[in-house]
Amino acid sequence: MVFKLLGINGSPKKPTAKTNSYFLLNTTLHSAKEQGIETTLINLTDYKINLCNGCEVCTTEPCPLDKDDDYPLIEALIQEHDGLIIACPSYWAGPPGILKNFLDRSRDNKMPKQIWEGKLFSAISVSGLRVGGQEAVISQLTTFGLAHGMLIVGGTGHPWFTAPFPTGSMMYEEVKDDEIKIKFRHVKKDIIATRDAEALGQRMAEVGKKLFV
Ligand SMILES: Cc1cc2nc3c(=O)[nH]c(=O)nc-3n(C[C@H](O)[C@H](O)[C@H](O)COP(=O)(O)O)c2cc1C
Repeated sequence: MVFKLLGINGSPKKPTAKTNSYFLLNTTLHSAKEQGIETTLINLTDYKINLCNGCEVCTTEPCPLDKDDDYPLIEALIQEHDGLIIACPSYWAGPPGILKNFLDRSRDNKMPKQIWEGKLFSAISVSGLRVGGQEAVISQLTTFGLAHGMLIVGGTGHPWFTAPFPTGSMMYEEVKDDEIKIKFRHVKKDIIATRDAEALGQRMAEVGKKLFV
């Protein structure tokens, strides 16, 4: 038996060499795969997910919107995997609308039965600014995971230098001849976030193998 880890990229941008959440998520999954586990990465932009309209049917029955969109495809993928990592940018210190709607639509996976209970969960976030709401996003996503009964896992690489959840930023400072310039870059040049992403992949694989294999 193999531990299976699913990554969801919750950026509304189609992944390209310029996008950021995809890069950190891919880094984490790549590092997990190196530990011998199975990984899958999906992009929310490839799925049509209708807006939750708050009808509350999901408290007792499957969501009626499931009939007309791709939500059941993602639901089935989560069901097939033992662990889930969601990565997204900070939009006003929260998840972007495309991901928030996905989180809302997941309510019929919690009610009446918590069908994702016991799966591993973690989160990754990226901001334009150095302090741009990354931790607020992580807090929302981990609360989502906890509410579904999932077990939160964070990276534990170096005892001093590794943060449990990768939080990248595009903003950085360049110091040259005592002059400081504030600039933006791709998150792959955020070495700390990249290392945290690798550490998270290793930890997910380690915990997954202990609990699921
Ligand atoms: C609507 C919108 C809201 C944003 N809000 C914030 C914000 O609150 N703080 C911040 O630092 N960056 C903000 N950004 C910038 C994104 O977080 C940044 O571009 C992110 O790294 C993009 O990630 P991606 O390439 O994975 O889509 C915002 C961008 C958009 C389009």
